[in-house]
Amino acid sequence: MIRFTALATLSAVALTAASSAWAEPKAEVLHWWTSGGEAKSVAVLQQEFSANGGTWTDMPVAGGGGDAAMTALRARVLSGNAPAAVQLKGPAIQEWYEEGVLADISAVAEAEGWADVLPASIAGHMKCDGTWCAAPVNVHRVDWIWANADVLKANGIDMPTTWDEFNAAAEKLKAAGIIPLAHGGQAWQDATVFEAAALGILGAEGFHKAFVELDADTLTSDAMVKVFDQMRTLRGYVDDNFSGRDWNLATAMVMNGEAAFQIMGDWAKGEFLAAGKVPGQDFLCASTPGDGFLYNVDSFAMFDVGGADKEAGQQLLAKLIVGKNFQKVFNLNKGSIPARTDVALDEFDSCAHLSAQDMADSSANGSLLPSYAHGMALRGAQSGAITDVVTAHFNSDMSSEDAVKMLAQAVANSM
Ligand code: GAL
Repeated sequence: MIRFTALATLSAVALTAASSAWAEPKAEVLHWWTSGGEAKSVAVLQQEFSANGGTWTDMPVAGGGGDAAMTALRARVLSGNAPAAVQLKGPAIQEWYEEGVLADISAVAEAEGWADVLPASIAGHMKCDGTWCAAPVNVHRVDWIWANADVLKANGIDMPTTWDEFNAAAEKLKAAGIIPLAHGGQAWQDATVFEAAALGILGAEGFHKAFVELDADTLTSDAMVKVFDQMRTLRGYVDDNFSGRDWNLATAMVMNGEAAFQIMGDWAKGEFLAAGKVPGQDFLCASTPGDGFLYNVDSFAMFDVGGADKEAGQQLLAKLIVGKNFQKVFNLNKGSIPARTDVALDEFDSCAHLSAQDMADSSANGSLLPSYAHGMALRGAQSGAITDVVTAHFNSDMSSEDAVKMLAQAVANSM
């Protein structure tokens, strides 16, 4: 009896000690993954978090490209009530770090050996003054064309490999009464199409000069005039109801054969897959004309929120996000490829294999480039200035010559 009481007391003490040291992980997570494929993907993270004892509070802010989510984030931070974890990427990570509001996740990154499994180009985006300030989820490629396989076949069209071929195919489709290009008239979608056209027409070096270095000569060059010419041509291939349409509804137009093509990052593949469509059979993927690879790495940054439970939640999330199995399952749904280099791609489809191969090749030959349209290349003020011009041109009869003048001016004013 005495022995029993002593034992009971001992285990009660042990239990109390354990529970005060172990805080239940909690995280409020702000993201913009609300389309079919996106929701399926973020659910993978949510489930893994719960399975590891975490309590997830979802804060989805609808709106492709994340503009609305970023507005919501600013409001939350200004009111002193930042969410614990935020879908945040590219130079915006460093911009928030400079505001002094990000948590340092270096302890997790070092314990998990992130430096050994992430390519240096990706790791660079996740660091702030040498510390780890974000966790990468994937690599999305932006410069893709998606097509309805039956529509192309019925009209005797192959996947275009040059912009001239694209335009010729679009004319043929238009004559046959099919919408050549499914597009949603939202500024970020205009920018997505624009940067794909720019990569093809300016080339990788020209793209870097224009959208990474903001070189004034390149911004006003004849080649840039041609990029706007191509945008004007593309404007003739979208339907009358394109204004304001969400990107996933544009993808649905390609799925159901109403439209032939969409120029969009490979989150569009996530939509096709979520609808049970098979690559190579129902839909086709090809990189947009030209050499190079525009990358868009999704990542999460943790905001300094305080509280042992929230800190435990942030650490658990960061660990899971870069975890090997998560990177596989998440990206199989999302349409992207893993950020980690040691995840086998056996279960991935042909589009993902093409992406991985092209990423390796472009990295080797210097044409691996950050997407300006998806916030990987420039700070918000500069990318916003460019997108304003792109969208103003696309939605008016502005000449290409006027557009490049406006572009150079807008970029100069944003510095
Ligand atoms: C991108 C983001 C992708 C995808 C897309 C559409 O900016 O990186 O993950 O979700 O927006 O919402």
